[in-house]
Amino acid sequence: MINVAILGYGNIGSGVGEVIEKNSAEIKRVLGDTLHVKYILDIRDIPGVVNDINVIVNDPDVKVVCETMGGKEPAYTYTHLALERGISVCSSNKELVDAYGVELSAIAREHNCSYLFEASVGGGIPIIRPLRESCAHEKITLIAGILNGTCNYILTNMKAGKDFATALREAQEKGFAERNPAADVEGHDTARKIAILASLVSGKKYSYEQVACEGITNITPEDFAMAESRGMSIKLLGVYDAEKNSVNVAPYLVPQTSPLYGVNDVFNGIMVHGTQVDNLMFYGRGAGKLPTASAVVSDVIECAKNIGRNIPNCFADLEPAEVSEPPAKPAGEKFRVLA
Ligand code: HSE
Repeated sequence: MINVAILGYGNIGSGVGEVIEKNSAEIKRVLGDTLHVKYILDIRDIPGVVNDINVIVNDPDVKVVCETMGGKEPAYTYTHLALERGISVCSSNKELVDAYGVELSAIAREHNCSYLFEASVGGGIPIIRPLRESCAHEKITLIAGILNGTCNYILTNMKAGKDFATALREAQEKGFAERNPAADVEGHDTARKIAILASLVSGKKYSYEQVACEGITNITPEDFAMAESRGMSIKLLGVYDAEKNSVNVAPYLVPQTSPLYGVNDVFNGIMVHGTQVDNLMFYGRGAGKLPTASAVVSDVIECAKNIGRNIPNCFADLEPAEVSEPPAKPAGEKFRVLA
């Protein structure tokens, strides 16, 4: 039995507990052992939940911690404490990975444990592990992704005639949106995710602050009519272009010929171009309790298979990237067109 702790018992954290329980037979099959949630930590007073991180990091039985708190603090301090004790941490926290992922990965390596973050990008879509392993030898030249479920839900529903506020409220009710949904609709969440992906494939650390970022708050019903008349859809994309060395987030016109055209509602789609493998497309639920929790559990299993060893995550040695301006919008146009 491998003991696990969950930090943050909100939407994703409670989902992690649920996935571990519901899929115990599948987990046993792939791991050859069972996972047991020994502790749940939350800042709220909930029966059966601990409030003190020291209870967890001082318990030598705990081998893996799931950090599903979100935000920088106390997630950073708690992650640091766990890794220093040789406890692996599996995170869904894109803000933390973007800001401190390099440092935390180096601490994990130093202490023979792991810092993994599959759930930080693309919700339930396996994207970090395929890029880190299956595409490790590839030269990735382009990543273009619909990376925010909330924005895609809003844009899909606005295209169908719903107003922005109603669509955002629904996304919040369904548990897709960030605590402060400005992070979704202003593009910051997408910026963090594309920065993480760019870092993973480039060997340089791209950070959220370097991403030229435009959100979806200025899109009007007329824009959808214009896009439709040109046979395109409007999608908020995060784009990393290795040749131009640019990383940006903006609403794009996506032609029907693109696999991203039909990615709707909460779904995310990530197109990756490698020089040998050519085009890859990753698709799935980009937000929501169980899909995101499923991605966290995939990391827990990998850590549980590697107790006492560091899993290289391609983040520990990254030097800061230098970034160029993204290509300008075509003259007189509100949107770029995805090539
Ligand atoms: N608010 C995020 C989204 C959650 O809507 O995509 C998943 O990272």
